[in-house]
Amino acid sequence: MTMFRSFQKFRLISNTPNVAQFTECLSTQKTASDLEKRREELMKRGLPKKKAIDGVKNIILVCSGKGGVGKSTVSVNLATALKLTNPNKEVGLLDTDCFGPSIPIMMNLSSKPYVTEEKKLTPLMNYGIKCMSIGFLVEKDAPIIWRGLKVMQGLETLTKHVSWGNIDYLVVDTPPGTGDTLLSLVQNLPITGVLLVTTPQSAALEVTKRGAGIFKIMNIPVIGLIENMAYINCPSCSTKIDIYGSGTTQLAKDLECDLLGSFPLDPCISESTDKGTPIAVENISSDLSKVYQAIAKKVMHFIDKNPIVATSTKDGEEDNK
Ligand SMILES: Nc1ncnc2c1ncn2[C@@H]1O[C@H](COP(=O)(O)OP(=O)(O)OP(=O)(O)O)[C@@H](O)[C@H]1O
Ligand SMILES: [Mg+2]
Repeated sequence: MTMFRSFQKFRLISNTPNVAQFTECLSTQKTASDLEKRREELMKRGLPKKKAIDGVKNIILVCSGKGGVGKSTVSVNLATALKLTNPNKEVGLLDTDCFGPSIPIMMNLSSKPYVTEEKKLTPLMNYGIKCMSIGFLVEKDAPIIWRGLKVMQGLETLTKHVSWGNIDYLVVDTPPGTGDTLLSLVQNLPITGVLLVTTPQSAALEVTKRGAGIFKIMNIPVIGLIENMAYINCPSCSTKIDIYGSGTTQLAKDLECDLLGSFPLDPCISESTDKGTPIAVENISSDLSKVYQAIAKKVMHFIDKNPIVATSTKDGEEDNK
């Protein structure tokens, strides 16, 4: 009986085209490069046309495979460092983590955004950075219990219904992994480049490498890796103690990108984010702030050399140049 049920289930699943394509690939014993090509074709087939966010020139995604490695921390510090190193540029920060929005606390912002006559949300501002997060739109402390469709609606609000004005660099903090939110972002928006945040632990590196495959398939450049919580500076003797080893350099080689910077596990970093004062601006002559300023310069340099500029377009027009 159980066997019969499993068989029925298999038949149901196997009716779906993706499983049929999968089994077809398996049965014809294709080579790795055939499979890679096939995967690319499937990913690209029927993708919606990318449309720029009104007024936003460059979109920088901050991603990771694993959760809790420091994406939000890196996002707020990178955004503030970009503004610090180039005050003439307009910088925005978009929090696309609908279940665990961190940007309101990390940027010390809590009020509700105004709605313009065109029914668009006005970003909140701190440290010269325009910010938007689902956390500004829901009641504080209320649990966000949303199914996928609601998450997509939330994401649509954040990406299409915000009055950004002119933004040179929009830093986008993403939820962990390669789920619906990330897929939707990479399929619908022209992304200038991606920053991958990881700890040097094998478990995190492996998931980061696997997750990076999506950017290769989608032809989105990886600007570089940022290694976080990599070591401790001993408080008594200042010796640098590696916590998880040094695998990030190898990962950078494997992904053919640069390791842009490395941060220690340091209570100053977590305290500053909890206070809503990013370490990059708290003390701009500190070593940690200088590392962020150096990363910001590398990111700007990358963008200058890879001018995929997402300009405003008419509805539905492809605008990845
Ligand atoms: N270098 C660091 N030193 C000490 N604490 C850190 C460091 N980087 C991040 N943290 C702390 O680690 C926790 C996780 O960081 P953060 O929220 O930035 O990770 P995340 O990748 O965005 O997590 P999630 O996947 O849940 O979105 C936070 O409490 C943050 O303050
Ligand atoms: Mg986060």
